[in-house]
Amino acid sequence: MCKFICTFAPEKIKNQNFYTMKYLLFSLCAMALVLSSCAPRTSVSSPDGQLQISFSLNEKGSPSYAVTRNGQSLMAPSRLGFELQESALTDGFTLRSSSFASFDEEWETVWGEERLIRNHYNELTLRLVHQSGREMNIVFRAFDDGLAFRYVFPDQPKDSLIILREATEYQFVSEPQVWSIPWRTEYYEAIWTKASASLTDTVCSPVTLEWPDGTYGFMHEAALTDYPAQNYIFGDSAVRTFLTPWQNGVAAYEKAPFATPWRFVILTDDLPQLMASRIMLNLNEPCRIEDTSWIKPMKFIGIWWGMHLKLMTWEAGPKHGATTENMKRYLAFAANNGFGGVLAEGWNLGWEDWRHFDFTTPYPDWDMDELSRYADSLGVQIIGHNETGGNAADYEAQLDTAYRYHEAHGIHAIKTGYVSPIIRTVDGLQYNRSQAGVRHYRKIIETAAKHHICIDNHEPVMPTGLQRTFPNLLTQEGVRGQEWNAWSQDGGSPASHTTILPFTRVMAGPVDYTPGVFNFANPVYPQTRVHSTLANQLALFVVLYSPLQMACDMPESYEQHPAEFAFLRDVPCDWEQSRLIDGAIGEYVVMARQERHSDNWYIGAITNDEPRTIELPLAFLSEGAAYEAILYADGEQADWKTNPYATEITSVSVSAQDTLTLRLASGGGCAIQILKK
Ligand code: NOJ
Repeated sequence: MCKFICTFAPEKIKNQNFYTMKYLLFSLCAMALVLSSCAPRTSVSSPDGQLQISFSLNEKGSPSYAVTRNGQSLMAPSRLGFELQESALTDGFTLRSSSFASFDEEWETVWGEERLIRNHYNELTLRLVHQSGREMNIVFRAFDDGLAFRYVFPDQPKDSLIILREATEYQFVSEPQVWSIPWRTEYYEAIWTKASASLTDTVCSPVTLEWPDGTYGFMHEAALTDYPAQNYIFGDSAVRTFLTPWQNGVAAYEKAPFATPWRFVILTDDLPQLMASRIMLNLNEPCRIEDTSWIKPMKFIGIWWGMHLKLMTWEAGPKHGATTENMKRYLAFAANNGFGGVLAEGWNLGWEDWRHFDFTTPYPDWDMDELSRYADSLGVQIIGHNETGGNAADYEAQLDTAYRYHEAHGIHAIKTGYVSPIIRTVDGLQYNRSQAGVRHYRKIIETAAKHHICIDNHEPVMPTGLQRTFPNLLTQEGVRGQEWNAWSQDGGSPASHTTILPFTRVMAGPVDYTPGVFNFANPVYPQTRVHSTLANQLALFVVLYSPLQMACDMPESYEQHPAEFAFLRDVPCDWEQSRLIDGAIGEYVVMARQERHSDNWYIGAITNDEPRTIELPLAFLSEGAAYEAILYADGEQADWKTNPYATEITSVSVSAQDTLTLRLASGGGCAIQILKK
């Protein structure tokens, strides 16, 4: 058996001097020589040796991979390959060569749940050639907390590929329970449910897995830039891949050289480790924006909730929300309360019929020049809003002028919207998660970066960690967010909803859920409610991660509860480190986060309908240091149905030796600010 170990860190090459480059080239040549003299290596283990991926070709030349973890078989041989329009790439392969590399680096995020992230893996590349002459490489990465692989088609004479189907399978040896949403869910806005794999149907990626022995898993894709979003077909013994097609049924049009997104499975022994996995970000390319100083995480408020409660309108008229006067009031409120920005929806022409939105012409009662000057004088940003109504092609046609207009008015963040699962792209009507949609969203992010604009993408394609490469992609929806508690006729999302999201949707990236309701009356549908206490709403600012975090309610609601509002003024949205302290999917979550470049910590604890008492050991605090903890807890009689407002605010001196006891009401929560003395 041939063993050759080479440490090759392509991401570091640009910083190496000439001699190091020569050394690397020498190592690569030496590796190639050694590889040519022995049978290709076909397996790779994680750096800690606990996870092993084995590749094989059967007698028909069909590629597959199998996985063991802690010495136990976790995945039986699982198929790999494609069906192309011209032929199947599922058998008829021979293995030409393979190479091994290991990689270990720490990188700093521009913003995030962690400041520093370690990227440590071993990599195996298998170079296959198909009987048709096509070359296809499969690259596996084994991490301590999971596995990843992608297909790479190197430059070759027959370079065009029309992909009808990806044959990738995941054959789990023992059947997991699966948390998922159905693949047809519009904009991913559904309540996640759990079912055994054999009873799960075709679902969106990602999914979260639970095995009876306590193993947790999370399956998703990373670095989706020019390929359809994947879905999974459960039900059979193997989980199969279903790519969101173009309207003509083709999955993807590609031209070599090209690489698919990474497919990855996180595997851990408990939920805190699952939540701590950074595999998805590590699989994305490093930051491509040289100067990131203009990218600023921030909390914001907006002329928004009033529209969802039908107290204001998007379109011009007697109840028009986005007026100069109203916006000035919101901007002043933001400036006085430490919010970095104010969103205004309905400021521009097009809301009457949603046929053509104009991104540079305001309604007559919106004075953009005046508001831009006023916002600047207060040190607050206007957050732009570009609702496209699903007409992506119309948006692309206006993109450069629209972004120049926003930039000229000091706007560095835009919320985009597509309210239509089928969008009109430059290639006709297509699913927003098809390759055409993925291309459009990437174009938006890249064009916005050129104009120093950050994006909050509503009705997006599910995030896949692209924010590492383009940190101006601050946040995305792709969730049944707070707005459903205003207008959905099903009564509103159950209290359990937010205790599922951190382990499912939010594992795929920041979420614009828009927490922060302080007034629980619903003038539209009195039967529809936020199933949460006020303390729970506060805790969501820590539990549901977003670097662009909206406090969704109106200033007049916040003015009713100044003591509780203090937490929203203080809570940051950019973190040094984050830890799940305790939790069970669908039941409760206790999340601790340390403010970036600070010794202060914030805790968010929430529960479903079940009231519960939670012990919170403060062992994560610095040993020997003294802190003051301010607790925003559910009051004695709090209950989301009968008494959501009851909140008790107390302050106590604490250290790393202490344990706090938190009492959470039904639909309740506790938000804690822990300040170093
Ligand atoms: C749906 C978005 O999710 C929501 O936030 C927005 O207010 C409306 N579209 C209108 O654009």
